[in-house]
Amino acid sequence: MQRFVVAYATRMVSKDDTRSPNNTAVRIDNEPHHSFLYPQIRDACKDLVLSDDQLQLVMQKLTDEINAGLSRTTHDDSVVKCFTTYVQDLPNGTENGNFLALDLGGTNFRVLLITLEGQKSDMKSKIYAIPQSLMLGTGTQLFDHIAQCLALFIKDLNLQNEILPLGFTFSFPLKQYGLTKGNLVRWTKGFNCSGVIGENVVALLEEAISRRKDVKIDVCAILNDTTGTLMSCAFKNQNCRIGLIVGTGFNACYVEKTKNAECAIPGNYDKNKAHMLINTEWGAFGERGVLDFIITEFDRAIDENSINPTKQLFEKMISGMYMGELARLVLEKLVNAGLLFGGKCPSDLRKRGKFFTKYVSEIENDPKGRYTNCREILAELGLRNVSDQDCENVRYVCSVVSRRAAHLVSAGIATLLNKMSEDNVTVGIDGSVYRFHPHFHDLMTAKISELQPYKFDLMLSHDGSGRGAALVAAVASQRR
Ligand code: BGC
Repeated sequence: MQRFVVAYATRMVSKDDTRSPNNTAVRIDNEPHHSFLYPQIRDACKDLVLSDDQLQLVMQKLTDEINAGLSRTTHDDSVVKCFTTYVQDLPNGTENGNFLALDLGGTNFRVLLITLEGQKSDMKSKIYAIPQSLMLGTGTQLFDHIAQCLALFIKDLNLQNEILPLGFTFSFPLKQYGLTKGNLVRWTKGFNCSGVIGENVVALLEEAISRRKDVKIDVCAILNDTTGTLMSCAFKNQNCRIGLIVGTGFNACYVEKTKNAECAIPGNYDKNKAHMLINTEWGAFGERGVLDFIITEFDRAIDENSINPTKQLFEKMISGMYMGELARLVLEKLVNAGLLFGGKCPSDLRKRGKFFTKYVSEIENDPKGRYTNCREILAELGLRNVSDQDCENVRYVCSVVSRRAAHLVSAGIATLLNKMSEDNVTVGIDGSVYRFHPHFHDLMTAKISELQPYKFDLMLSHDGSGRGAALVAAVASQRR
């Protein structure tokens, strides 16, 4: 059944309190959306609630890590790599022509044809699934699949006789040596294809295409999805200076002064241009213990069971790949402590990955005092006839997990705003968590305002990073 997005109604107090533990329930007025909460439930979740002092400390540490990534002397040993993107121009509305774009980095792979015409742009695109077997297979299989999808798309549109400029959005940590050369540093988000780490991804794509012999392309740029989002939003809004993704993965890029991009390779960029886009790859933040003061038992469990233990710790606290599982771990703990569902756990709630991230958004989307989505989801997990109080507790768990994520993202953005020290910076944002969670935007707006002094705007990107890839390709092909 379809679950609809419903705006929150005003707060109500739950009357159905059939399975009260012995302790008296307390109404928590400064925590929105929760009518009654038992102290034990609150206590079990307390490590997931971050104070402003903790968030300020996160900001200090992130500032240090970003500076270490930027500096030539500390870059090699840094955790937050701050890779140079070699993108120095924001779009100015004069970009024209037909461009191809490939977008690999989440659960799907997209091929796009984008037509830019001054302020207008038109897009045709096709989405192809990336099965898990490909995510974990060989690099050759992955790039052959990409080349095959591209060839099908090109033939469908009858473009096989043209050589169109192509922008490749490849949303993984990439050490770039120029606009068309980048070596994969590590896989993230559940990918682990062999033979790609340390290799130039553009060359792997070109080789796969030339193996087919049926299409020709001209790769003009490789870029991250955060860069694509920034470019795409800057096309509409001249103030856009930060690109943020809160989806399957989590990352940001921002406009830095060229002189601070110390690792840029001389000759491969224009040192007279004022700006350089930097891909922070801050999902890695927290490796080597700097976030241990806020890491919880749930985060540790997520990390230990992941395919990249000890890596991408900031990302694992925030992104859509892990949020549902974090909520599930907390719920499981509450059941085990006898605080939820009368201590009985539906078997699916015990299974890793069964509580999807979209459930968090859907449960928090129920209007106050109603639990329609929540009951439907619990039924999907094998639990029926659940009391209002249990539903309220489930919603509390979801809200604690998603608020922490929104607050950590805010600490990240506040760090960048402080670093840029400018008013009226627009943050272009994409990703399923930001897009579909009913409160993420508001939580971020409020928290960023509290954490730093500058005025800012949060802007949802409307067309993913596809148009961004075309814009980068346009600027690059013009330069050629
Ligand atoms: C990757 C980034 C990417 C982000 C969002 C992370 O896992 O390392 O390169 O930008 O996901 O897709």
